[in-house]
Amino acid sequence: MTTRSKIVGTGSFVPEQVLTNRDLESMIDTSDEWITTRTGIKQRHIARPGENNSDLAVEASRAALSMAGIEPAELDLIIVGTLTGDMPMPSVACLVQDRLGAGHAGAFDVSATCSGFLYSLSIADKFIKDNPSMKILAIGSEVLSRRTNWNDRTTCVIFADGAGAAVVTGSDDEGGILSTCLHADGSVWELLTIRGLGTAHPIDQDIISKGWHYIEMKGRDVFKHAVKALESVAHEAMERAGWTNEDLDLLIAHQANIRILDFLRERLHLPKEKVFINIDKYGNTSAASIPIALDEANRSGRLKKGDNILMISFGGGFTWAGVTMRW
Ligand SMILES: CC(C)(COP(=O)(O)OP(=O)(O)OC[C@H]1O[C@@H](n2cnc3c(N)ncnc32)[C@H](O)[C@@H]1OP(=O)(O)O)[C@@H](O)C(=O)NCCC(=O)NCCS
Repeated sequence: MTTRSKIVGTGSFVPEQVLTNRDLESMIDTSDEWITTRTGIKQRHIARPGENNSDLAVEASRAALSMAGIEPAELDLIIVGTLTGDMPMPSVACLVQDRLGAGHAGAFDVSATCSGFLYSLSIADKFIKDNPSMKILAIGSEVLSRRTNWNDRTTCVIFADGAGAAVVTGSDDEGGILSTCLHADGSVWELLTIRGLGTAHPIDQDIISKGWHYIEMKGRDVFKHAVKALESVAHEAMERAGWTNEDLDLLIAHQANIRILDFLRERLHLPKEKVFINIDKYGNTSAASIPIALDEANRSGRLKKGDNILMISFGGGFTWAGVTMRW
């Protein structure tokens, strides 16, 4: 019997404050109709002042640990995929480690934008293959609303806040992670970026007046790259698992845009019920989008033991990733 990495608990958390498309209509030149038809988003959750990335990550983690029946002190490693940490130093993972009381765990963040959770899960998978007794918390958590230019209608209607977490450990039963594929293309980084705030462009008045502390996106170009990369990594991950499209029970793709999800459904010849969608409620929460969707699918009973699940992501960098697992 092969020992595989298995998700034994999931959790998610979003801020209480909801911002609807109607609310946005009174803030910028947009409409509920435009946002709904172009993106599929109806509302999103936005952190209140003082509510930080680590706060969301801790809540999602507590829910995942509670489902797994694992105490924080038992954790060996905490990995957080994020691009909106509380501070440049320390990592969100270290703040989560402290707040959970997971003193035995190593902790670090992974910078892979919207692929942050799948990159983190893939790293967890490798550690567990090395030592199946390890208990690892893989998290995706974002407060993108603080990196969003609320005067830029092409981005502020899309990005939002939230966190999702998964507890991963070794298992000898049928379930577990079957394949992981990680990819990147740094040559087109300017299509989706936050230029400022790093060491290349330290924060000053000039950076602020240029808006370089905010997300910049060439939406149409990103769309074209995203559909190509997501379709390709979906096939790659399924092939490595020995599956065809027909073996798939549920696709959990990064919730970036309903038109991207519809495109994938058509290209992979999947019926509607096999494609998980919650972008209408949460918008694009970057690294948090897949673990939030996974937790919702899990808690709503949509995941049945033995189901074949494909998760795929795409984001700034560019980065993209695919993970298959049997539930
Ligand atoms: C951003 C996105 C929704 C824009 O949709 P689009 O169909 O490409 O629209 P365009 O950018 O071509 O803009 C079309 C028009 O709508 C306008 N527009 C843009 N945002 C708008 C908004 N929020 N409300 C109303 N109109 C808007 C544009 O100004 C443009 O007007 P014009 O024709 O007068 O110049 C789409 O490109 C997209 O989803 N891209 C992928 C983004 C993504 O997934 N990013 C994250 C990856 S992790």
